[in-house]
Amino acid sequence: MKKRIIAGNWKMNQTKDTAYAMLRGLADFCASNDIPSDVEMVVCPPYPYLSLAVDTLKDSPVKVGAQNCSHESNGAFTGEVSSAMLADLGVSHVILGHSERRKYFKESDSLVLKKTRKAMSAGLQVILCVGEELAVREDEGQYLFVKNQLKDSAFLLSSANLKNLIVAYEPIWAIGTGKTATPEQANEMHYYIRDQFAENFDQPSANELSILYGGSCKPANAADLFAQVNVDGGLIGGASLTAENFTGIIDKTFPA
Ligand code: 13P
Repeated sequence: MKKRIIAGNWKMNQTKDTAYAMLRGLADFCASNDIPSDVEMVVCPPYPYLSLAVDTLKDSPVKVGAQNCSHESNGAFTGEVSSAMLADLGVSHVILGHSERRKYFKESDSLVLKKTRKAMSAGLQVILCVGEELAVREDEGQYLFVKNQLKDSAFLLSSANLKNLIVAYEPIWAIGTGKTATPEQANEMHYYIRDQFAENFDQPSANELSILYGGSCKPANAADLFAQVNVDGGLIGGASLTAENFTGIIDKTFPA
């Protein structure tokens, strides 16, 4: 069954204390609210706080994800973290292909594909990010842009891999800018992405795929975005840093 997913990407933020406060608040929220069974919540802290997250959330339904992993298995790759290490810690998800990694660390679609394969072979769920810059949208090139990103990454996976794939559409012009895609813009792109998966794989697999929206989501706009038929949840940046905002999104969007 297709899952509705709210995932928080902390990026390079938090201290041990603020991280714990957020995680504790989220665990307490889950203990005192009925979360619908098709709703999955994921928190993606920086590497040093992953164990803290796994421990603090162990009695809650919230899953823990990483923000990156290596495309290599192990060995002399100073500073890298393997997907097997993440799985070993109790991490279940990993965000790959985020626009910030593409921009600042020059990650290509082919590297994203290698990382995706490696992560899936370690049993991780991959949240694969795609999305266009403002200039591309202004030229009405967003569909072709996203299609090309998927062509060189997700569409080269096997259909058996799709059950471990979540797609996040994050238009770059909406990330951290306070400028959100309209619910209609998000829905149109998600419909297009699903249709492309149907064309490259099959319709039932495409129907099962969870496609998340990311870019300036907050409690005030989440319900309208996630009410769209093709928007299956969100990948939240800034508003995932406090339990108040993150649970505000969960609460408003998926009231028990
Ligand atoms: P913001 O919610 O801060 O715009 O970030 C979105 C994002 O990049 C999540 O991965």
